[in-house]
Amino acid sequence: MPKITYIEHDGTEHQVDAEVGTTVMNAALDNLVPGIDADCGGECSCATCHVMVDKSWMPKVGKPSEAEESMLDLNPERVENSRLSCQIPVTDELDGLVVNLPEFQF
Ligand code: FES
Repeated sequence: MPKITYIEHDGTEHQVDAEVGTTVMNAALDNLVPGIDADCGGECSCATCHVMVDKSWMPKVGKPSEAEESMLDLNPERVENSRLSCQIPVTDELDGLVVNLPEFQF
């Protein structure tokens, strides 16, 4: 199973084994990683699953869809490596992925 590391705003790291086919958001919730609210349950309509993908992983993770872009634009904390974690499917290629969590979800 691909390993994903979530780093909280204070530097606390959580490494989880994520099932292929789930999302980076669901893998966090399933493993009780704090810092992702996911109010809409993964429908790309709340933006409370915001993460900042480690920049070295951006090429593999890829770019957001237009719908995700629209949601990210509403987030005042958006940065260039921001993604909505419910829109990142877990694949074997993402084994070792590192994402950073914001201090707050908006
Ligand atoms: Fe709502 Fe990702 S969980 S946008």
